Amino acid sequence: MCGIVGYAGSGAPGARPQGVVMSGLARLEYRGYDSAGVAVVTGDPEHVGMRKKSGKLVNLEKELAERPIPAGTAAIGHTRWATHGAPTDANAHPHLAAGGRIAIIHNGIIENFAALRAELESDGVKFLSETDTEVAGHLLAREVLRGSSLADAMRAITRRLEGAFTLLAVDAHEPRAVVGARRNSPLVIGLGDGENFLGSDVVAFIEHTRTALELHQDEIVEITPDRVTITDSAGLVVDREPYHVDWDASAAQKGGFATFMEKEIHDQPTAVADTLRGRIDEKGRLQLDGGMIDEYVLKSIDKIIIVACGTASYAGLTARYAIEHWTRIPVEVELAHEFRYRDPIVSIKTLVVAVSQSGETMDTIMAVRHAQQQGATVIGVVNAQGSTIAREADAVLYTRAGPEIAVASTKAFLAQITAGYLLGIYLAELRGNKFPDEIEALLEQLDAIPAKVQRVLDASEPIRELARTMADERTVLFLGRHVGFPVALEGALKLKELAYIHAEGFAAGELKHGPIALVEEGQPVFIVLPSPRGRESLHSKVISNVQEVRARGARTFVIAEEGDTEADNYAEQVFYVPAAPVLMTPLLSVVPLQIFALELAAAKGYDVDQPRNLAKSVTVE
Ligand code: F6R
Repeated sequence: MCGIVGYAGSGAPGARPQGVVMSGLARLEYRGYDSAGVAVVTGDPEHVGMRKKSGKLVNLEKELAERPIPAGTAAIGHTRWATHGAPTDANAHPHLAAGGRIAIIHNGIIENFAALRAELESDGVKFLSETDTEVAGHLLAREVLRGSSLADAMRAITRRLEGAFTLLAVDAHEPRAVVGARRNSPLVIGLGDGENFLGSDVVAFIEHTRTALELHQDEIVEITPDRVTITDSAGLVVDREPYHVDWDASAAQKGGFATFMEKEIHDQPTAVADTLRGRIDEKGRLQLDGGMIDEYVLKSIDKIIIVACGTASYAGLTARYAIEHWTRIPVEVELAHEFRYRDPIVSIKTLVVAVSQSGETMDTIMAVRHAQQQGATVIGVVNAQGSTIAREADAVLYTRAGPEIAVASTKAFLAQITAGYLLGIYLAELRGNKFPDEIEALLEQLDAIPAKVQRVLDASEPIRELARTMADERTVLFLGRHVGFPVALEGALKLKELAYIHAEGFAAGELKHGPIALVEEGQPVFIVLPSPRGRESLHSKVISNVQEVRARGARTFVIAEEGDTEADNYAEQVFYVPAAPVLMTPLLSVVPLQIFALELAAAKGYDVDQPRNLAKSVTVE
């Protein structure tokens, strides 16, 4: 939520600071697109150069073309997802203070801003925006004008701020430096050669460097072209080892596809394969990516709670079926923002699994902290390296989906389910699995999934065609049972997010308990049909549900297993996916639904990468 970039470059003033910041903003625009702005330290000792515009980054680009900023030595840039104040030019960041000498940008919410604003106003400060950020700018200016360095001033003001924030600031009097601070909001440092970078995530600077440093809670960073100094809240210098960023720059580009969403849907076979690669050793032990959990602790857990939001929570719901089945440990799945407010029963025998693509979702971070305070062990299933959840969890299992830029999640979903299955297989093995011979078979079955996902992608034209005919639909329903239920929820969420069509996912068995009242003549209903194979197949039960809605005039569209010819009798159209073991079918059946939402939104002319009102990484509660 809100994208932040900072750059301190070498040598004489040039175009690079602004160029680096603008290309970083283009990569971070998925974090918010209500407005964008940039400030450049140009060598004018009293004023930084600043331009900002409401709307997408393209508006700022036009503004800069019409009113260029002179060459500079350091720069900061911001792309906004509005919290305090409407998305206007005035509320766009950067905000200026000290008569234009200081510029500041912010991600997060300063909760005590009203009291601070009143205090500053009573001192005669005039505010130009409705934002909480401007408060931080004027506080910073007050410290700087009293003689503090920018870094010391930043440390002093963060003591007065409550809430969540990443702040970056530049001062025309310190033309080589950018100073940053963070609390409960992300900021990563990129180490270059004669230049250094700051970004909300590594995507901001990945084309320039893949060597990064984490900034921890309440630390202050100052970057200059040749130095990065991290200090703690007491002003003591912190020594920190850099890490290598595994993602490369091409992973954050569209790679020949029209949109990131289309590309990321096509990345899914690789996302699953990479998440599986080399994960379970010959003794059946899961290779975690960071941190350690004593096997004794894992053997003693008596409950698993998966905490997550949105699509990640549906990945958790899906993984629950497998984890419970394989381990016989009770698994709860809880929306992270509900978890800590209901006084959950958590003990040292609870394993909390926090699932998050960004690793920065504030609701999930707070759930992790709450669980840790109660003594639980936490494993993060996270996609973004070095993110807050990855750092704060006791151990992390990275999903290796690569950067997900489109705001609506697709490839991270498949990778999260895969990681959940790996965790289930590992726990089953560790705790004396009921089916010892099956571990190997399960891994083989998982290994076969990427090729099957590819087959679904290769056969996607019929569902694309259908989507193009449905742009005028007002409501679409999705039904599924067992593992098909979270798939139905995810299919509905994708359609809401991308095509702004009202959509609901239901457990098919729940239909008769109320939702069937929604069905009228012509109502499109998608049904995720289980395989007819197997003794305990729910196939016939779901077929009954299809018939129930058809009898009331619904148009039925069925996702079925290849070879299930019976499905044809009950559906206007069937979309076939390759056969797979029941628990693994969501990795296949969700793909046509993702494509349906993408194509329908495109048919309506919507921006599928940046749907309205949304932002990736929801870093405020
Ligand atoms: C939906 C979507 C969101 C995220 C949710 C959690 O397409 O992208 O529902 O899944 O905001 O985000 P992460 O996984 O970053 O914690």
